[in-house]
Amino acid sequence: MAGPEDYLELLRRRRSRREITPNPVEPEKLERALQAAMRAASGANAQPWEYVLIERGPLRERIRQMCEAADAEFHRRSPDWLKEFFSTHAITPVKQFTHNAPWLVAVFGRRDLPFWLQSVWLSIANFINALEAEGLHSLTYTPSLDRRFNALLGVDESWSLQALLPVGYGDEREKLEPRPRHSPAEKVRVIDASGKLAPFVQRLPFEP
Ligand SMILES: Cc1cc2nc3c(=O)[nH]c(=O)nc-3n(C[C@H](O)[C@H](O)[C@H](O)COP(=O)(O)O)c2cc1C
Repeated sequence: MAGPEDYLELLRRRRSRREITPNPVEPEKLERALQAAMRAASGANAQPWEYVLIERGPLRERIRQMCEAADAEFHRRSPDWLKEFFSTHAITPVKQFTHNAPWLVAVFGRRDLPFWLQSVWLSIANFINALEAEGLHSLTYTPSLDRRFNALLGVDESWSLQALLPVGYGDEREKLEPRPRHSPAEKVRVIDASGKLAPFVQRLPFEP
């Protein structure tokens, strides 16, 4: 069993990957990551999630078109500063990753269950971290797709799409820009025994 340091290292290593190869994924690896997703805590243990695994095939082209249309609209409506950000970061509405990866995983949340939103996202967190543990890669992608997407997948409208995750083996040639993290010293505060707000005293080194 891996120790706490290994778990931290796994979390540190995980990165979103936007270049995923079509190389096949061992079914048991994906299944273990799905088991991790099912183990998430959820409000009243309602488990308000549903995962739809979409293999590479004709449907994927249709999904790519839907995502690109939704993102093009999002870009078109963006304020100038955001358009500028997209252009300097070479972010375009083209979503190759929705097409190439061996699996595209759509995660839905059941709107009428208690704390459904929080719970679904805890499940997604378990899923992406478990994928990393399996040596697999993913991107948490949140396109603004409407009910036509549910209809395309045959999913009832009471389920709300939360994320689309291409899953597979990342292309090692992808250049990953650093995505540093703030330390506990920056993001955590303590209310001490006297009721006073105090900074968090960090005892361990933290690599951003
Ligand atoms: C709720 C959520 C929504 C996200 N939506 C998108 C998205 O629509 N497109 C995208 O390229 N990345 C998306 N991401 C990925 C983030 O950009 C990424 O997690 C963040 O920059 C940190 O980088 P890292 O995951 O490599 O550590 C999303 C991540 C989260 C958690």
